[in-house]
Amino acid sequence: MRILTRRGRNSETTVVEQFVVQTQSLFTPLQLGKLLLSHRIVMAPLTRMRADRPGNSPNALNALYYTQRASEGGLIIAEASQIMPQGQGMPATPGIHSDAQAAGWKLVCDGVHAKGGRIFLQLWHVGRISHHSHQPDGGPPWAPSAIAAQGTAMTANVDREAFAVPRALGLSDIDALKLAYVQAGKRAIAAGFDGVEIHSANGYLLEQFMHERSNQRDDHYGGTLANRIRLPLEVAEALAQALTPAKVGIRLSPFGIANDSGDPNPEPLYRTIIRELNQLGLAYLHLIEPRASGAGQREVDHQDVPSACAMFRKDWDRVLITAGNFTAQSASETVEAGLADAIAFGRYFIANPDLPERIRRGQAFTPYHRPTFYGGGSHGYTDYLAYGFAGNEQVNGVISS
Ligand code: FNR
Repeated sequence: MRILTRRGRNSETTVVEQFVVQTQSLFTPLQLGKLLLSHRIVMAPLTRMRADRPGNSPNALNALYYTQRASEGGLIIAEASQIMPQGQGMPATPGIHSDAQAAGWKLVCDGVHAKGGRIFLQLWHVGRISHHSHQPDGGPPWAPSAIAAQGTAMTANVDREAFAVPRALGLSDIDALKLAYVQAGKRAIAAGFDGVEIHSANGYLLEQFMHERSNQRDDHYGGTLANRIRLPLEVAEALAQALTPAKVGIRLSPFGIANDSGDPNPEPLYRTIIRELNQLGLAYLHLIEPRASGAGQREVDHQDVPSACAMFRKDWDRVLITAGNFTAQSASETVEAGLADAIAFGRYFIANPDLPERIRRGQAFTPYHRPTFYGGGSHGYTDYLAYGFAGNEQVNGVISS
């Protein structure tokens, strides 16, 4: 139980109101693959664009950031990391395709493990959401079809330019891509990660294959629903085989609209892929609630959208994690109702390194500062303090509702 106390002066007496928020459901153990988690508050993958340049290797500052957010028996999903140089779409995002990057990630994993935490790495290829300045050959980015996304790409110099028409991948490129996922997965495990999460959400490459608007191929990777979900399924199967299914999770964003994504007929598409993925015995399925689609770019609360976890819970047998605009209370209610097994927090984890403990104790959350989300140094990254340090409980007050 979490008791929130609101104090105020009323002439001579102190008025104390108590709001009782039940959060016990978030603090029961959870078996995830071979890991036993001690609570159900997960840190969502969060791109922060603070890897070393050149090389895109994680560094000591990144290790400090993750270590600050680690908790005993808690799961962190580390930020999206390109599996190959062509997979990059923004400057200073970390990769997992070189030895130097793996050495940087080892610092991160060691720090998290030293606090009793667990950590997966999100495997990423942005596909058409890239810019030629990130491409090793300076050419157009990769995609299922030569169809440009609407909107602007972030260049290597952090400028904005309209998305270009990408290059449609050939079948041999697709084979190379699958191999790169497996190599990245193996490298991640060798660096110390407890597992990997396949990024098949938010309008990036694997989701581009799934959606009709971005995939107009006429081979067995395009056209029918079964063909469009083939590549994410093959990637999941290959990683499960290489690493064991218990070390693989996958992220999907049904009904999402981020990065010019969105399929005209999402319900059968997502129900089919979730049921197929369910056969593979993966550690978990991670959903992004449609109401929060695009939260990385701006504050959103989309109305009249379905609840992804309510819609697909019955199609998935193992651990279901969901994310998007949760509060301590709604997270707890969602787990209590059996709609999800764990809740991932994004923006609040940025600003509250001790988020699980704050929720357990019913403490206020520090507000996040969007201008420092992407790029920069320690400001807005490692200088958010745990509750009670530097008087930040005074800054926040003791009121949370
Ligand atoms: C994100 N999000 C995101 N999602 C993802 O799958 N991989 C990523 O690397 C990122 N990067 C990222 C960066 C930043 C700064 C934000 C704010 C968001 C989405 C994130 O994981 C989460 O789904 C959303 O933020 C919604 O959760 P909250 O913030 O409402 O708890």
